Amino acid sequence: MESFVIEGGVRLSGTVRVHGAKNAALPILAATLLADGLFVLENVPDLLDIRSMAEILMALGVRVKREGEMLVVDARGLRSNVVPEALMSRMRSSIFLMGPLLARTGEAVLGYPGGCAIGTRPIDLHLEGLKKLGAVIHEYGGTILARAPRLEGTTIVLDYPSVGATENLMMAAALARGTTRIVNAAREPEIQELERFLNAMGARIRGAGTHAIVIEGVERLHPPRPHRVIPDRIVAGTLLAAAAITEGRIVLEDVIPEHLEAVIDAFRKTGARIEVAPDRIAVEGVRPYRAIHRLSTSPHPGFPTDMQPQLLAYLTQAEGTSVLVETVFDGRFRHVPELVKMGADIVVDYHTAVIRGPRRLVGARVRATDLRAGAALVLAGLAAEGVTIVEGAVHIDRGYHRLEETFAALGARIVRTTERPLLAPEGQV
Ligand code: EPZ
Repeated sequence: MESFVIEGGVRLSGTVRVHGAKNAALPILAATLLADGLFVLENVPDLLDIRSMAEILMALGVRVKREGEMLVVDARGLRSNVVPEALMSRMRSSIFLMGPLLARTGEAVLGYPGGCAIGTRPIDLHLEGLKKLGAVIHEYGGTILARAPRLEGTTIVLDYPSVGATENLMMAAALARGTTRIVNAAREPEIQELERFLNAMGARIRGAGTHAIVIEGVERLHPPRPHRVIPDRIVAGTLLAAAAITEGRIVLEDVIPEHLEAVIDAFRKTGARIEVAPDRIAVEGVRPYRAIHRLSTSPHPGFPTDMQPQLLAYLTQAEGTSVLVETVFDGRFRHVPELVKMGADIVVDYHTAVIRGPRRLVGARVRATDLRAGAALVLAGLAAEGVTIVEGAVHIDRGYHRLEETFAALGARIVRTTERPLLAPEGQV
């Protein structure tokens, strides 16, 4: 059980490069199963979830090699379409294997995906969509068996613009016979990135980023030229929040500001000073922070649910009452009791959190329950008086590459430990 030990109260400052996007790299890794050949993927951070996806690919016979931030994937060795259950249950994105395996081999055998405990996460939209493409799917004893000698293009109207279902169906339809339209598709930047990658493999896809994506199936795909994965907008948003909550001044490099418009808008509303340039963002936290009357998370281009915990932690320091409504996941306030332990005043009623501030945060022993909740607790620790111990660093490592080093390079007093440090009264270790 690794933890972060943080001594708060430092104003962060400096320049930081934003690493590649976990939620873009994961479906792209799954898409390598769609073609025979060698793939070179650049700007792929060494994260636990990326390692898990690589392990699954290797269990299917594919070779994966890391060289710094580059992954070389040799998909010529694919020899199985049965995903080991133990690997499947480690993360939600393992479900992305279903579309490509079905399209490439005519069959896929998987368990149910695991992943962050942020609410109920069914896969009905994935299964319904694949059935519409002609797959025959049997579910028995925790196993999903899908078969389709060749998928057939059709129109799929999604009940909800699910990111994962849109990506899975894009990959499946790329090798289907005929044309597929995905209506009410997700519009996240990661969807556009997947379209870019698949089209570089010879697919014929258009409309990513809009509500309707059209995929003209092709007979065969091939590896593209070396592909550089987009920067991680949620990592960028987390760093932006860190500058704001510590009254710091940070410059984010290698970032795509258009991917963060709703996040930038929200932080500007609180008084944070944010300057945007084509591939960089300068942020300065300015007290007093203003409360946000009411903000709801929603699919892109709305405010991302993956930034809700970080914004909530910051708003504990704002003057007045803020209201945050979580509309995407039904169990994504598990960071709240931990923040309350540190002195925050937050009341949750089903999907709504009411945050009264500012309240003085004092260091405490808190536990990360999922990736973004963990990041929010680290931010609170950076702003708190005294020492905070954030247990469960493993959750944070799923989506942030060595977060403690990133913050330490910006002046934070933060270390990672495998010990179980004892916390004395008033936040001393
Ligand atoms: C992706 O998850 C991201 N993960 C999540 O990021 C992110 O929170 C989410 O999109 C929303 O933006 C990856 O890209 C790997 P969804 P995904 O399908 O695909 C319901 C992080 O912190 N739904 O858009 O699982 C579902 O229950 C992670 O990096 C169904 O009902 O999200 C949820 O309420 C956490 N049936 C809503 O849709 C389905 O078949 C959104 O889920 C699929 C989804």
